[in-house]
This record gives sequence, C-alpha cells and structure tokens, in this order.
Amino acid sequence: MKVLVTGGTGYIGSHTVVELQQKGYEVVIADNLINSHRDVVDRIEKITGIKPCFEQIDLTVEKGVKQMFDKHGDIHSVIHFAALKAVGESVKQPLRYYHNNIESLINILDAMNRIGSKTIVFSSSCTVYGQPEKLPVTELSPIQPACSPYGHTKQICEEIIANTLSVSELNGVLLRYFNPVGAHPSALIGELPLGAPNNLVPCITQTAIGKRPALKVFGDNYNTPDGTAVRDYIHVVDLAKSHVVALERLFNKKNKKNLEIFNIGTGQGYSVLEVIQSFEKVSGRKLDYEIVGRRSGDIEKIWADTTFANKELGWKAVLGIDEMMLSAWNWEIALKGE
Ligand code: UD1
Repeated sequence: MKVLVTGGTGYIGSHTVVELQQKGYEVVIADNLINSHRDVVDRIEKITGIKPCFEQIDLTVEKGVKQMFDKHGDIHSVIHFAALKAVGESVKQPLRYYHNNIESLINILDAMNRIGSKTIVFSSSCTVYGQPEKLPVTELSPIQPACSPYGHTKQICEEIIANTLSVSELNGVLLRYFNPVGAHPSALIGELPLGAPNNLVPCITQTAIGKRPALKVFGDNYNTPDGTAVRDYIHVVDLAKSHVVALERLFNKKNKKNLEIFNIGTGQGYSVLEVIQSFEKVSGRKLDYEIVGRRSGDIEKIWADTTFANKELGWKAVLGIDEMMLSAWNWEIALKGE
C-alpha cells in the first residue's frame, strides 16, 4: 500500500519512513527541504535497502499538491509531519507559521478527499495541553490556550481534521507527541537542526562535542524535585513505530471512531538535570553547563498518561532515557566523522 509521508526527510518523518519500509509499505516522501537534507533519502536507502520516492514540494501551493496526488494516483494514506516547529521562531513570525502549517494541511485534506484516500495520521503535540493542572495528562485532559503560535497551529490543525473527517469518508488518528529525542541505532539518521538548536538534547550533544559553549539550563526554581523543568522524553524510534501501529489500526478498521487521539510518550517524566546525568553516564563525559533564568514560554512539568495508547492502540514505548541519550550521542559522533 502506498503511503505519502509529508516531512519525510525531517527528524521524526525519516525514522517513520524507515519503519514503514521495513514493514513493506511503499513510501512517497514530500518535503520542501527547508529544514532537512536531501541526502536523508539516501541514508534511508542505506538502512532499509529501498530508496523511497521523493518529491520536493511546497505543500502550501494547492496546484502542486493536486499534481503530486494525481501523479501518484493511488495514495491510500498520508502521515502528515510537514510543519514548522520552532516555538520561539513562531512567536516572532506568527503569520509564517499559520500560513505554512494550516495551508499545507488544508491542501493535503482537499487532495485526499478528491482522490478518495482512506486514512490520515497527524503529527500533533502535547503542547495542546499547555501547563496541565493535573498530571499525568490523559487524552481527555482539557486543551488550554496555546502558549505559542506554533502550539496554536497544532490545535487548529486538530480541529480542521476533526471537522473534515466528520463529513468525509476519511478516518484518522491524531498522535500527541511528548518530547522526541534520540536517533536511529544505525546513526545514519537523527535530529539535524539547521542553525543553532533550540531543543535540549541536540544542545547537550553539541556542547559535549565542542560545537557550542556551555549548555544553559533554563531555570532551577520550578516546583519539581530538583527545581529544573520536567518532560516526558520519548525515543524517536519508539515514536516512529507508533505511526505504523496507528496506520495499521486504520487499515484493519480496528478504530472505534473515525478520529482517535493518542498520547505518545513513555509516561515517565525526567528533569533537565536528570537528562544531563543520563547523558554523562552513557557518554562517559562531564557536561559543561550553567544554570540561567527560565526560558519564556516554558512550562514547568508535563508527562503523559499512556494507558489509552498502551491498551487501545496496542503500542508501548520500550526504550529508556539511557538508550535515548546514547543514540543521540552516537549520532553526534557520527556527524563529526563525516
Ligand atoms: C517544545 C514544545 C513541543 C515541541 C517541541 C519541538 C511546548 C510546551 N513544547 O518542547 O510541543 O514539539 O518544542 O521543538 O511548546 N532546555 C534547557 N536548555 C536548553 C534547551 C532546553 O534547559 O538549551 C530545557 C527547556 O527549558 C525545557 C526542556 O529543556 O525544560 C526541554 O526543552 P525542549 O527540548 O526545547 O522542548 P520543549 O520546550 O519541552
């Protein structure tokens, strides 16, 4: 079955393409390459032995999206990752985020309806919960006002999908990711931020390898056991696998509603200092870091209740924090050798 993976050369997208190909699916990647590299396609081929079909395309251009769907004809399913995702940047460039993330989705849904595609899996985020009052968060926890235009686009996209699916033949799954980290065990693909990274784990590995000065730990006066902020970090390979499971649930008509929502995390929260400790343990290196003030827009703590995903979706994260940090470190070392 042919699956279109938008954003398929990106961080989570590329790992998902690998898992799909290893399960025998035919993949078409659509990506504009503004935040990823074309050679990811070759790296995927090195891992799986199969070169995915690649379309360089701006998904905000309706005509181009239509043409792509017509060209490939029988796109049964779409996994839609393609989006801008930097929280801070979205505050500075809100319209760019709204245009890009929302128009792309509308064009994809239009094209899917037109050719009669059957299923969509959408890349959403725990950011839709804001700072929850009760932890862990379940899929029924209230959606809070978004803390950034990026987060707002995820909320809007969820609603667009819900409204569209309520009047179409499409079935879908929204996956709300917690904090994806780590890299493929081959060290051939991983997170490759263009420019200075914002996220914690690439900041840690780049500091350790000497690409950046001391890591700044944003705040140690939160209401958490060691004062630093807590997140539910999830290995990107576990996360990638959840997409295949979600897709197969839809293929096999196991879904209970035409749109289902699942939290994709481990259910375990780690503080920034605990993440650093894990990194130091698996890498054998001392990390140079300093405590600085809080980063604006950060929430204090969040982790997932994954009961619904574990029981209903039949998926569970298996890789722990040390495996996440070791794979991220191996990826950074591999990049240095290139
Ligand atoms: C944010 C978004 C999330 C999005 C992700 C993708 C929110 C609430 N979360 O996650 O939805 O999917 O970005 O980019 O909008 N930290 C440091 N020093 C650093 C970098 C980070 O101390 O140099 C800390 C942060 O303050 C935070 C933790 O590490 O407490 C994780 O930060 P980060 O990796 O940026 O992810 P989030 O902000 O949680």
